Amino acid sequence: AKSGLLIGKKVVITAGGTREALDPVRYLTNRSSGKMGYALARAAAENGAEVVLITTTARENIFGVEQVFVSSTQEMLVAVTHAFSDADIFISAAAVSDFKPAEFATHKIKKQTDSGLTLNLVQNPDILQTIGQSKKTNQIVVGFAAETQEILAHGKEKLIKKQADMIIANDVSKSDTGFSSDDNAVTILIPDHLPETLSKTSKIEIARAIMARIITLK
Ligand code: C5P
Repeated sequence: AKSGLLIGKKVVITAGGTREALDPVRYLTNRSSGKMGYALARAAAENGAEVVLITTTARENIFGVEQVFVSSTQEMLVAVTHAFSDADIFISAAAVSDFKPAEFATHKIKKQTDSGLTLNLVQNPDILQTIGQSKKTNQIVVGFAAETQEILAHGKEKLIKKQADMIIANDVSKSDTGFSSDDNAVTILIPDHLPETLSKTSKIEIARAIMARIITLK
């Protein structure tokens, strides 16, 4: 039988880097591996939650975790909005592309003869902010702040701007933590609370600690 503090709770998590198509064979993306999102999904499932992992990467199957595969930010937003409508917790661990090509070329863009190529980009929706602004009273929204400088200041700004209940701030300028690494070191920011630092350890241990902290909210 299932045991855990999240029995009967639905947790929606995003993972990986979104991909923005330029033409039928090319896309813009980022270095996200999806590891942190998968670790969070595992930690939520360990606590007995019903987990929906909306992901751009297929890493591993986890018992109790339903995976929904998406590619673009727009697709991720649609999937998250749908899954979150009856969910209790949303954790935005995906590295969402801030921009996408203004136009999708239906045919492969040809090599230019003598000139370069200028891409026009437009802004993508902010999934975390969209969900944060529309959450109901009992829904908890958690985001990440991957920063290279002034981590705490930027993290606190994000708590407010995205109406999040928790922001996990991490320093992505260090090569031994963050992005593709198996390890992470983070600071948990919660409104009206002092920052709480989790020193460097495996992403699964970080995920378990984050989940334990989420459980204590509200
Ligand atoms: O603003 P910034 O990209 O630094 O915020 C990071 C947080 O916001 C992460 O939780 C990320 O998943 C989320 N995000 C999002 N949609 C975007 C950009 C970021 O959901 N377009």
